[in-house]
Amino acid sequence: MHLAALLFVSALFVAAFALDNGVMRTPPMGWLAWERFRCDIDCEHDPKNCISENLFIDMADRLAEDGWRELGYVYVNIDDCWSSMERDEKGRLQPDPKRFPGGIPKLARYMHDRGLKLGIYGDMGTHTCGGYPGTPLDKITIDAQTFADWEVDMFKFDGCYSNATEQEQGYPLMSKALNATGRPIGYSCSWPAYQGGLPPKVNYTQLAKICNLWRNYGDIQDSWDSVLNIIDWFFENQDILIPVAGPGRWNDPDMLIVGDFGLSMDQSRAQMALWAIMAAPLFMSNDLRTISSGARRILQNKIAININQDPMGVQGRRIVKEKSGIEVFWRPLSNNASALVFFSRRSDMPYRYRTSLSRLNYTTGSYKIFDVFSEKTVTLKDSTDFVVSVNPSGVVMWYVSAPAELNLRQFYRGGKLQRSAYDDDENAIPRVFL
Ligand SMILES: *[C@@H]1O[C@H](CO)[C@@H](O)[C@H](O)[C@H]1NC(C)=O
Ligand SMILES: *[C@@H]1O[C@H](CO)[C@@H](O)[C@H](O)[C@H]1NC(C)=O
Ligand SMILES: *[C@@H]1O[C@H](CO)[C@@H](O)[C@H](O)[C@H]1NC(C)=O
Repeated sequence: MHLAALLFVSALFVAAFALDNGVMRTPPMGWLAWERFRCDIDCEHDPKNCISENLFIDMADRLAEDGWRELGYVYVNIDDCWSSMERDEKGRLQPDPKRFPGGIPKLARYMHDRGLKLGIYGDMGTHTCGGYPGTPLDKITIDAQTFADWEVDMFKFDGCYSNATEQEQGYPLMSKALNATGRPIGYSCSWPAYQGGLPPKVNYTQLAKICNLWRNYGDIQDSWDSVLNIIDWFFENQDILIPVAGPGRWNDPDMLIVGDFGLSMDQSRAQMALWAIMAAPLFMSNDLRTISSGARRILQNKIAININQDPMGVQGRRIVKEKSGIEVFWRPLSNNASALVFFSRRSDMPYRYRTSLSRLNYTTGSYKIFDVFSEKTVTLKDSTDFVVSVNPSGVVMWYVSAPAELNLRQFYRGGKLQRSAYDDDENAIPRVFL
């Protein structure tokens, strides 16, 4: 059986065990406060950047007005440090009254009126990581109901100040409690990140049943080192992680930091490309009010987003790791299409990598290729050698259409078969998109 077909069947098989709340059938997309805005609560001296309702309203306005929402970036997610230090007289969590004077329901309405969704944050221990009230076992039911009453759409459940035994009880209990509210609420579990991210300590079959997405690994920071560290962990463990992902259940390598301070434009394209290959949730953590046009163009790249959002939901894999520092990643997509990423770990100069589609496991004929970032197209036969030029810590990303014989209409025009560009000269090595 063809590899893509095999993966498709196994994806269908596991899908029977996904959390049945109907949401996040493709990886969720939006904006999340943490990486960029952390626990800045000094609204007196830093009113534009502190964790307050104004920050989330500003980001919602940008998502709605600057073309993000139409591309799928709809979640506006609050992270830590939103709440008051005290629960209210009925034992419910409440937002800090100075920083969120309108309350969370008003913020949720603001999002919904604009076709956006609101996410909120809690922690299954005694306290959140930032020292705010946690949601230990005896508070799970009331907190789930409070979020549903506020009409929240997503909930991230962190794990600071809890132990393994409590987590084993708390994460499934919260899943049940959210379900019992009757409101579909996307559920993000930080549980595996607190247990090393790997079996036997982490049971991914169970996670897929109770959560829509889960943080497998440590927090991202605003640096290329951090992105590289995350990429390495996810692809070194790809054989464990790929089978558990699918519609409604996603591995989460953490936020996109494109548009912040730590990445060059090449590194930004690398993060976007590899998050798309991984079928990762796309939560930007940046300042959409001041983002550069270059970063915006990368984050708003329609083909990269389409690859990320492919409805088949199969997570991609690293298929080549060359001594030269070039790596190749592949993701099967619906309609017999696929995505390829050529990634360079080098630090010298653009590297001219020579290969062919057949060496990358492609068979049968000629493929139409669209270069995601240069927006050029080319047709390649599987057997033809080609050269791609990959910048240091950068990528070349391709959307590869179904092979011609599976997609004949594209190639017959005016009753004539359109021959591929390189059919006639088997010996010429095309320098693709140089
Ligand atoms: C609750 O779970 C049941 C059974 O899995 C499912 O059919 C239902 O849609 C869920 N409801 C919500 C709101 O998640
Ligand atoms: C976890 O914390 C609980 C208190 O909530 C305690 O009773 C239990 O012994 C702890 N378990 C471990 C393994 O540390
Ligand atoms: C993992 O969880 C699944 C589903 O909850 C369960 O059937 C299975 O026994 C668990 N596996 C292990 C090794 O505990």
